[in-house]
Amino acid sequence: MANLNLPGPKARAMIERDHKVISPSYPRSYPFVMDHGKGSEVWDVDGNRFLDFMGGIAVVSTGYSHPKVVKAIQEQAEKFIHISSDFYHENWIKLAEKLDEIAPFKEDALSFMTNSGTEAVETAIKLARYHTKRTNFIGFTGAFHGRTMGAVTFTASKAKYHGGFYPLMNGVTHAPFPNPYRPVLERRKGEDYGEATVRYIEEEILGQIMPPKDVAGILVESIQGEGGYLIPPEGFFPALRKLCDKHGILLIVDEVQSGMGRTGKWWAIEHFGVEPDMLTSAKGIASGMPLGACIARKSVMDWEVGTHGNTYGGNPISCAASLATIDLIEKEYLANAAEVGTYAMDALEEIKARHPSIGEVRGKGLMIGVEFVKDHETKEPAKELTDRVVDLGFERGLLMLSCGKSVIRIAPPLSMTKSEMDEGLKLFEEALTVAEKEVK
Ligand SMILES: Cc1ncc(COP(=O)(O)O)c(C=O)c1O
Repeated sequence: MANLNLPGPKARAMIERDHKVISPSYPRSYPFVMDHGKGSEVWDVDGNRFLDFMGGIAVVSTGYSHPKVVKAIQEQAEKFIHISSDFYHENWIKLAEKLDEIAPFKEDALSFMTNSGTEAVETAIKLARYHTKRTNFIGFTGAFHGRTMGAVTFTASKAKYHGGFYPLMNGVTHAPFPNPYRPVLERRKGEDYGEATVRYIEEEILGQIMPPKDVAGILVESIQGEGGYLIPPEGFFPALRKLCDKHGILLIVDEVQSGMGRTGKWWAIEHFGVEPDMLTSAKGIASGMPLGACIARKSVMDWEVGTHGNTYGGNPISCAASLATIDLIEKEYLANAAEVGTYAMDALEEIKARHPSIGEVRGKGLMIGVEFVKDHETKEPAKELTDRVVDLGFERGLLMLSCGKSVIRIAPPLSMTKSEMDEGLKLFEEALTVAEKEVK
């Protein structure tokens, strides 16, 4: 396929204007300037068409501008756009009822609605302290939980997120996330690598750094996102749940990226047969309207009136978009994510057999990571190659994003069809073939 020669003239002019007025802190992977989108396709301002393997960083769950989501937004906008969280409205209640129905624990669920994933995490941190009357937490290396002062303290996927911002929140200690592809801890006989990680937490952190009676919660992504689309080994969550129960510590799972049907189940934690005490959601929850939620067991969300709140919580348009989104996921896209995800994993295994630069393909549903290495033995990350594949994909009309040290994440809309997946994987392999020749 011919290269698109990007960015085009209109995109170039807009990027120049952007650089004069927008904060330079935003990381932009490549010069894509959006004009419009439909389903899994997007067009830039110069009329170039792209297939989308990243869904606005795993946000556009029902595809771009799904007519049912658009209709829900339009109808709500005509009625009222805002009322403030000091008052009531039905779509907010309906959404919380739905979240109660799909929450990954048997106990009744209460929800606190937020404007973003970070705010949902911030809410969970505050609630854990309030409920347990304890101060400390355990997080994980490679984690991404957002960028406000509390959440960013837990974020540990790039040193850049902390540099220049100290002092951060007190009382957070990180354990290594159980990455079976790149283990850093010793396993004992009969232990899986997830169980070894939990033993490390018990012996090294709770035994040597801070006593369990001071620990309010353990915050962990059910599948690590920004850290490299890492799936913890089977033994990890059951052992972690047991540890939390033993010491009265809350298990808080961050499902901002992995939740809302992305992995073929409502929540990724459901793949591991464990019930958390709290979870955070955002991204795919409203197809791109700003919305997040901290969802907790009723017995945990016990804070008093006025202790926590916000102006836009339960925003009427976001709630309407979310209800339409959840309905679509429930009726069609949960099953589609599982089916097209398996289909893509099989195809990627075939591509891996043809490309020694691929060290591992891993994923659940439509949350798939392809890890590139310089050498299968040493597993040295092939960062330059990864970045080149992303750029060459863009030039061929495929939007991708990297994560971890040398991973490309495939997180398209949950509505992606098998033929769109075929088209995207063909472009991906073309880009990879060229990159392998260029980057030695
Ligand atoms: C797992 C996880 N938690 C939290 C966040 C932060 O969400 P937001 O960017 O909406 O604040 C992200 C964003 O990428 C995420 O992936």
